[in-house]
Amino acid sequence: MTDTTHYDFDRWIDRRASDSIKWAFNEQLFGDDDVISMWIADMDFAIPEPVSRAIQQRAAHPIYGYPMCAPTYSDALIAWWRRRHHWEIQKEWLTYNPGVIPALVVAILAFTQPGDKIVIQPPVYPPFFNIVKHNGRQIVENALRVENGRYQMDFADLEKRLDSRTKMLILCNPHNPVGRVWTRAELTRLGEICLAKHIIIVSDEIHADIVYPWAKHVPIASISDAFAQNTITCLAPSKTFNLAGLYASATIIPNPRWQAQFNHTLESLAHKSINVLGIVALEAAYRCGEAWLDQLLDYLRGNLDLAMEYIAARIPEIQVIRPEGTYLLWLDCRALGLAPVALKEFMLKQARVALNDGPTFGTQGEGFQRMNIACPRTVLAEALRRIEAAVNTLRPLRYSSPTILNSREAARLSDDGGK
Ligand SMILES: Cc1ncc(COP(=O)(O)O)c(C=O)c1O
Repeated sequence: MTDTTHYDFDRWIDRRASDSIKWAFNEQLFGDDDVISMWIADMDFAIPEPVSRAIQQRAAHPIYGYPMCAPTYSDALIAWWRRRHHWEIQKEWLTYNPGVIPALVVAILAFTQPGDKIVIQPPVYPPFFNIVKHNGRQIVENALRVENGRYQMDFADLEKRLDSRTKMLILCNPHNPVGRVWTRAELTRLGEICLAKHIIIVSDEIHADIVYPWAKHVPIASISDAFAQNTITCLAPSKTFNLAGLYASATIIPNPRWQAQFNHTLESLAHKSINVLGIVALEAAYRCGEAWLDQLLDYLRGNLDLAMEYIAARIPEIQVIRPEGTYLLWLDCRALGLAPVALKEFMLKQARVALNDGPTFGTQGEGFQRMNIACPRTVLAEALRRIEAAVNTLRPLRYSSPTILNSREAARLSDDGGK
């Protein structure tokens, strides 16, 4: 059924009474209830109407016993990925899990041994560091670099860093926080290196649907059969449809041996599948969420234009490379000249805007902040105004008229020896 609703993304929804980690605990987390929360990656928008209805219908049933994923759920997911990303997923490649990060951990445990090396590409989503380290594997940092005003993968550096202990690469596509949507050519080069060196690719494609018109998401496993056999793809409707609290995700593993190994580890950890409301939401979103998503993408593009134009015109100390995907902006604040801890405090206490602190994405993030722009435009505009006002306090000399000392003050200063 086509959803003909006109969605109002300008509507402000107060989330403080909804257990939202982003909004309900500002006083506790930041000591200030008036902070504008633009950190953790969920959106301040209501979900699509058909998804809301499906959840409410299921919730109205008085029993919440153990669920099973009916084939129709998989049909909806497969049709979505075929339609939006031109990838023909087979039903038998699919496993459901309670979140992408749990699935990444299962992959690490299933396919690597303690002490093995796993490549990540910082600056990158902070849990990538923890899930590798906390499971006794070693991190290999193949840092992204900026070239021609764009973040790029450093393939030469990658090849240098691989050795016989390196078993896996965790790819972030689209990339959080830098907003790159990797091109087919880049993914092909990466996939070939990994094939040649026997490195398993675990591709986190949770942001796949939030892509702007100037880019196109390519699932790395869709490029060739050889890549498909060497890739575990983790996906979810959670970023796309604002359903993160329902913990519903899926893993696509075309290699049957690896699929069995993954499922065995999943079972040994007693990870259940998706919860009963998550399954219903996943199916409804993939089946009926397209109209909402298209409107969302238009709205996010408007927010992105506003943020880019405002920052360029009024806060030129902050540099932003226009993202190709995600609703996250990676703000280069190095020209503000603040030490990393001071920058974090500055945004929180001076600007009263809660952002993600750059160094949590790796040392490459020093001097950066990540801003989530998935909020009503008025809120974004207010946050930008607050940051501009705070930055103004750092540059009084440039904007106030030059101080003219009277002769008595000048004499006093020279008596002080200019101390
Ligand atoms: C790249 C990436 N992967 C995974 C997650 C979290 O996934 P989940 O909540 O399904 O564990 C996020 C959330 O921001 C993310 O940005």
